[in-house]
Amino acid sequence: MLIKTSEYLISNEFYDKCPKPNLPEYAFIGRSNVGKSSLINMIANNEKLAKTSGTPGKTTLINHFLINKDWYLVDLPGYGYAKRSMSQRKTWEKMIENYVRKRENLINVFILVDSRHSPQALDLEFVNQLGEWQVPFTLVFTKADKSTQAEVSKNVKAFLNRLRENWEFLPQHFVTSTAKRMGRDAILGFIDEQNAM
Ligand code: GTP
Ligand code: MG
Repeated sequence: MLIKTSEYLISNEFYDKCPKPNLPEYAFIGRSNVGKSSLINMIANNEKLAKTSGTPGKTTLINHFLINKDWYLVDLPGYGYAKRSMSQRKTWEKMIENYVRKRENLINVFILVDSRHSPQALDLEFVNQLGEWQVPFTLVFTKADKSTQAEVSKNVKAFLNRLRENWEFLPQHFVTSTAKRMGRDAILGFIDEQNAM
């Protein structure tokens, strides 16, 4: 798929204040600093679209972007940011739960997992939670340039094995690196397929 236009629309805390749910929507979530905003920029081919930062906790709201005037990309604030207070965490949880469960045009949530690490409880919990809510999702293992291919494969396998303990069917997964522009075609191909359905 060719990206012709990408534009920022709006940021807000409430799913029902998001843009009219009249176009297919794809959201990106995962641990704070895992690379959500960077991945969105790579997909859209627009480095200035979503704000990225070396400091975790940069994205705090539900951010909508319109791609090719035809579908939405959504940048969500990450979880597991240590400097958030308990009440900020509760607000985040409510915001995310409402959004993923009630947003009627949401086609898929890309859950990002850092490919450098062995399975982390926080990521597994989030994946299992979305599974229980029956929210459609796929996995994206990010920052693949930061370790060897063997290490990435080992971590991906281990993560999927942990999911196998709870689920009969495993989600589709992608491996990405914004530094190497890796995984872009696969994700865009997936979105293209979904949009055509
Ligand atoms: P929050 O909004 O704070 O939750 O973070 P985020 O998940 O949006 O992460 P962001 O895209 O801002 O990236 C965090 C840091 O990781 C930045 O310094 C990025 O440049 C870096 N980064 C993201 N993806 C990659 C990647 O594939 N490879 C490398 N080497 N660095 C990456
Ligand atoms: Mg971000």
